[in-house]
Amino acid sequence: MRTFSAVDEMRSYIKPLKRAGKRIGFVPTMGALHEGHLSLARTLREHSDIRVCSIFVNPTQFNDRKDYEAYAVNLKRDTELLKGEGVDVLFAPTVEEIYPAGFQTTVTVSEVSKPFEGALRPGHFAGVASVVSILFNAVEPDVAIFGEKDFQQLSLIERMVKDLKFDVQIIRGELVRDSDGLALSSRNARLSPQGRLNALAISRGLFAAQAAFRSGERRAAQLEQLVTAEIHSMPSPEIDYVTLVNEETLEPVTTVSGRCRMLVVARVEGVRLLDNAAFHG
Ligand code: PAJ
Repeated sequence: MRTFSAVDEMRSYIKPLKRAGKRIGFVPTMGALHEGHLSLARTLREHSDIRVCSIFVNPTQFNDRKDYEAYAVNLKRDTELLKGEGVDVLFAPTVEEIYPAGFQTTVTVSEVSKPFEGALRPGHFAGVASVVSILFNAVEPDVAIFGEKDFQQLSLIERMVKDLKFDVQIIRGELVRDSDGLALSSRNARLSPQGRLNALAISRGLFAAQAAFRSGERRAAQLEQLVTAEIHSMPSPEIDYVTLVNEETLEPVTTVSGRCRMLVVARVEGVRLLDNAAFHG
């Protein structure tokens, strides 16, 4: 696996491959890799000839400085994991490489950035949209994959690619869970063993709502209530939101029809845990 930290080196490596007709696949990450990230790299294998993975903990998308500083990336471990997956290139730039002195450009995707994570984490999505634009320009992928785990982020990237006419196909990667149901996240490592057990209420709630949906329940309030009830069964529950939305517009629905998603964020031991599930009528 080749590793580059400079944009120029990255480009000089990729350009001849593109000219030779190779299809470049890209998985952007912030490191602290787990099976969710690796599954994206695996899915991308079917869609590309050369697979590039980036690791960059992007300071501009953290609205909380402490959260940024607590983001524990072990580059050596991550490099080994990517090698194990047969990834061809790791792009791991420094903060100075991405944001040199004088940097002043921001990409904002207005509507998709407003609700949910956008409302609770001001500036977060501008940070994401901007860094992904920079990474796309550095890697020049033909295809890039983003996980459904961060469903609003995925919608934002799809909108941005359409609006700015990036010549890149976006693929959706399925949300990967641990065997006990917990959605895999780099932040899970911050939970105590008890906190981790409590956190299972989130996926339990989503599964209960999906079961009710399969049995015919279509009222959003009833389905949301099944999730909140599970989460309220844990000690000191803290819910940021539990909302059924239309998958295309991210607008809340009152009745499930077409493709809908239940978006959930709950805090356990101060750790914000994002989860979601599909409700396709
Ligand atoms: P990060 O949180 O490292 O996630 C990188 C990619 O992995 C994202 O597309 C995310 O949705 C996906 N992912 C994380 N957990 C997953 C899971 N359990 N199942 C499936 N996919 C999962 O998201 C970011 O980094 C950043 O915002 C980034 C896009 C890299 C921009 O900085």
